[in-house]
Amino acid sequence: MKNKCFSWLMFALLAMGSSAAWSTSAEDNYKNFCWQCHGMAGNGMGVNVQDMSVQPRDHTSAKAMGGRSDADLFKVIKQGGLAIDKSVLMPPWGDSLSDEEIRDLVKYLRKLCKCG
Ligand code: HEC
Repeated sequence: MKNKCFSWLMFALLAMGSSAAWSTSAEDNYKNFCWQCHGMAGNGMGVNVQDMSVQPRDHTSAKAMGGRSDADLFKVIKQGGLAIDKSVLMPPWGDSLSDEEIRDLVKYLRKLCKCG
């Protein structure tokens, strides 16, 4: 009996967790659009990296990411690398992602780097 209650509780917690929309959707977006270059774990080691002349940012590095404001991160995701004087190899995502999705991605990046 005790066990059954426990699994119900786990189920309820899981259901609640996945309905917290931003955490799942930002992670999904990252895994759809960003991993090829930035890597599944966000460490800048995606499958495209060997063909690229500029190393995609390691999003797990607090040192590399900590100096950026949320506004800069928003801008570089929406408008691409050139918008903050970075490489054109970082593509603009403003056509594929809404502002809200981009804001959620900024929060997701903050979780990856554990900074800010
Ligand atoms: C085609 C490869 C590619 C894809 C796909 C890509 N990026 Fe990038 N990204 C780069 C490269 C290369 C850089 C580094 C540019 C530089 O240092 O000049 C970069 C840099 C960044 C930076 C800037 C970090 C900083 O402050 O220096 C952010 C933020 C970022 N990417 C987020 C994303 C997000 C979010 C996605 C998915 C929506 C994404 N990138 C998809 C290649 C890519």
